[in-house]
Amino acid sequence: MNGGPGFSTLAIHAGAQPDPTTGARATPIYQTTSFVFNDTDHAAALFGLKQFGNIYTRIMNPTQAVLEERIAALEGGTAGLAVSSGHAAQLLVFHTIMSPGDNFVSARQLYGGSVNQFGQSFKAFDWQVRWADSAEPESFDAHIDERTKAIFIESLANPGGTFVDIAAIAEVARRHGLPLIVDNTMATPYLVRPLEHGADIVVHSLTKFIGGHGNSMGGMIVDGGTFDWSTSGKYPLLSEPRPEYGGVVLHQAFGNFAFAIAARVLGLRDFGPAISPFNAFLIQTGVETLPLRMQRHCDNAAEVAKWLKGHEKVSWVRYAGLEDDPNNALQKRYSPKGAGAVFTFGLAGGYEAGKRFVEALEMFSHLANIGDTRSLVIHPASTTHRQLTPEQQTAAGAGPDVIRLSVGIEDIVDIIADLEQALAKA
Ligand SMILES: Cc1ncc(COP(=O)(O)O)c(C=O)c1O
Repeated sequence: MNGGPGFSTLAIHAGAQPDPTTGARATPIYQTTSFVFNDTDHAAALFGLKQFGNIYTRIMNPTQAVLEERIAALEGGTAGLAVSSGHAAQLLVFHTIMSPGDNFVSARQLYGGSVNQFGQSFKAFDWQVRWADSAEPESFDAHIDERTKAIFIESLANPGGTFVDIAAIAEVARRHGLPLIVDNTMATPYLVRPLEHGADIVVHSLTKFIGGHGNSMGGMIVDGGTFDWSTSGKYPLLSEPRPEYGGVVLHQAFGNFAFAIAARVLGLRDFGPAISPFNAFLIQTGVETLPLRMQRHCDNAAEVAKWLKGHEKVSWVRYAGLEDDPNNALQKRYSPKGAGAVFTFGLAGGYEAGKRFVEALEMFSHLANIGDTRSLVIHPASTTHRQLTPEQQTAAGAGPDVIRLSVGIEDIVDIIADLEQALAKA
């Protein structure tokens, strides 16, 4: 952090100051749609991107601005853009760099919703995704052609909980002159800071560990400020004059935070997935305890994984933090503070045992989310992946015996007691 404030200090202070008019110490919820201009020249300067300032909450808002600055600081980026969800963040990132007929290469080890977004909905824009294997950097290479615009990975993949060799994939991106976009939702910058390993753009679902309390949807784009958007001519939204802004060239005008500006003044402006000030406030409050919560999540998950591994009704456990896990070396290299809180394990009794186990849990909540303070569980084969054939389920890491946990920050003895009584009934 170049001798600057430490991570925990930034998590509390970055971007915030006492409210200039009231002295309020916590960032107020600026629950307003719009902001009064000083005069017509001021309004014209704001609309023409000649001056920064608040116009309308779809584009920016002071509560959102604090959250943006804070997450950018935690990731070591130049600027952030807060939006309504993780999926909205991904949409705006790709809108900023893709034209119809373009493609990008993505790891296939992704959150299922992202697999759908990329593989199904993006087709409507004529954006093509090509799937590669996150464990084989050369598999990205093989898919790249002259219409490829980016590489996309998750730093810590959901649901498998496996760490990815970010630097090796960044090297492939660098060789081809492409930006590397990393979804850092599962790791959070407390565990992994992808920009330090060669990523150019980071995206988040703030809905998970960053907000951390299972109460608000949000997404974030962090601009690493590292990528040259102009030389190749492949990114016209950034490198060509924008008619609606008096012919300004965004990369020229805004330099190392041009990507965040473009996603805001083009994508967010036109698609409109703004985060509400109230959600920005709640997520910001969550961020203040991110380092404490994340460490506790990791410590609890490590205990649970070890305990499950020794249980007779458990046939396998995949947790990168286990010494004998195939992903352990990458975990130690990229995330020495811990292996995250989301992982999968298999029940010896298969599908029926999985259903019985989930139904028998009392403190764990059975739901489709991760990264809450509460411990969460899902049996993918009977829920999120039930439409797939057994072969497809297995390929997706959601075979009939698979259980996914997101271990919370309750007392570890209570977490294990709940698992123990449910396994007895499974
Ligand atoms: C790794 C990852 N990325 C992105 C998303 C999408 O985020 P959101 O649900 O906030 O749109 C999720 C949601 O579960 C996720 O787990």
